[in-house]
Amino acid sequence: MHLFTTIAGLRCYLNSLSQGNGPLEVGLVPTMGALHAGHLSLIQRCRQENSVAVVSIFVNPLQFAPQEDFDRYPRNLERDRQVCEQAGVDVIFAPTPEAMGVVSQPFSPLLTAVVPPEAMTTTLCGRTRLGHFQGVATIVTKLLNVVQPDRAYFGQKDGQQLAIIRRLVADLNLPVEIIACPTVREPSGLALSSRNQYLSELEKGKAALIYQALQQADKGFRAGERSGVALVGAVKAVLEQEPAIALEYVELVHPTTLAPLTEVEDAGLLAVAVRLGSTRLIDNIVLVARQPIVAIDGPAGAGKSTVARRVAQELGLLYLDTGAMYRAITWLVLQSGIALDDQPAIAELVSQADVLISGEPQAVSVSINGRDVTQEIRSLEVTAHVSAIAAQSVVRQELLRLQRRYGLQGGLVIEGRDIGTCVFPDAELKIFLTASVQERARRRQQDLLNQGKGEMNLEELEQTIAERDHKDSTRAIAPLRKAADAIEVNTDDLTIDQVVNRIIQMYQARALS
Ligand code: PAJ
Repeated sequence: MHLFTTIAGLRCYLNSLSQGNGPLEVGLVPTMGALHAGHLSLIQRCRQENSVAVVSIFVNPLQFAPQEDFDRYPRNLERDRQVCEQAGVDVIFAPTPEAMGVVSQPFSPLLTAVVPPEAMTTTLCGRTRLGHFQGVATIVTKLLNVVQPDRAYFGQKDGQQLAIIRRLVADLNLPVEIIACPTVREPSGLALSSRNQYLSELEKGKAALIYQALQQADKGFRAGERSGVALVGAVKAVLEQEPAIALEYVELVHPTTLAPLTEVEDAGLLAVAVRLGSTRLIDNIVLVARQPIVAIDGPAGAGKSTVARRVAQELGLLYLDTGAMYRAITWLVLQSGIALDDQPAIAELVSQADVLISGEPQAVSVSINGRDVTQEIRSLEVTAHVSAIAAQSVVRQELLRLQRRYGLQGGLVIEGRDIGTCVFPDAELKIFLTASVQERARRRQQDLLNQGKGEMNLEELEQTIAERDHKDSTRAIAPLRKAADAIEVNTDDLTIDQVVNRIIQMYQARALS
């Protein structure tokens, strides 16, 4: 592991890595140190998804108001260094305020400021923490420019910060993907925070009430409650039982725009800030009104597509046929006459494309830019080119956009290699469907026999499958990965009916919980 305190050292190191090592994917986890398991969850995800994991540790003076806890904010670089070392971090960037060019606190009028939309910074925490989000936005922009990561990781715990950073990255066209990670909690439900260090044991016990209050509202939401007044009221009713807790706010806003909501339509962010003694604590939950998403990942030949179609059929959900989506895009590219290696032209074409999937899971209809191409996408020409087109990162990026649009309404089953980890990390049910190499080879042999293609050597088939597994889990774009919260189903000794029934039972159990 390397530790840099200057931009020059960090840049020089990252540049040296990118020379001659093929494409390098850099992930950044910005922190203010005092690392805990919440930070570690971001770090782990960053390590999984990138070849280089950078953690920045910088207590940013710009985001503290003069009366706030900048001076007493916990700092222990040596301990943080050990935590990072153990977590497999590649690089710590712990700049001095001088190196970051932000020595004054809170904000020097001589410094260029990144000013997010006022409506997002003056609500929730922004009401009492004046200038805070401008300080966050400015330092995050600087860190993104210094590290130039492909992905940057932020916690849902700071829901307002996350929404503002997403907005800023979109509005300024910063070339980075923002990844949101779920809130990590103590067994009591208390959200981990560096500021929990200020709490006594007694106070920690009382602070657990915050999440209990949010859960109370969540229960109401699941039972169909959509009114802002009622949901906010449910949280307040629990918190008001504890006199030591001073409520700063409980509010329902839209998770993306932070606009106040009188009612949840698609989604709501229910956010709380309280004071307990001299400590300020925040927490939130996201309430999603969409229908559930079932994500099925797994190696090739485990039966994903058959199972996914059947599950969708039996549950009355849409089967979001990603294969058909890639085929539709391939058809469009072939139709346009663009050279297959002209990536900029393909990017232009595909970024304006609209692919619609509809119909029954066993007979999906596909249209692109308003034209039904259900038949055309099965042509030999499309079949011959679909892999090459799908392998282009720009195509994959645009497909992601189209798939996530379906995710807003939910009510779908989708299968692939990285659905639960990348496409829909917040899917309600994640299945990792596997089967041993031997069993998959045996099934393949049977399939080929059934198709009249003769008997293939089992060992050769096993070898091909093992090689494919290796390729799929190490490929740069969309590698095969099991999500930490996915349920593994090994189909070796199961019939398709049994697998389908098992998944349906899990789905129903989740819906009732
Ligand atoms: P800090 O409070 O150190 O948090 C760093 C990152 O860890 C943030 O993205 C935060 O949301 C995430 N995080 C904190 N507690 C978490 C928990 N319990 N579960 C999951 N994630 C959690 O947030 C900041 O620093 C600063 O504002 C920063 C973005 C670094 C800019 O200075």
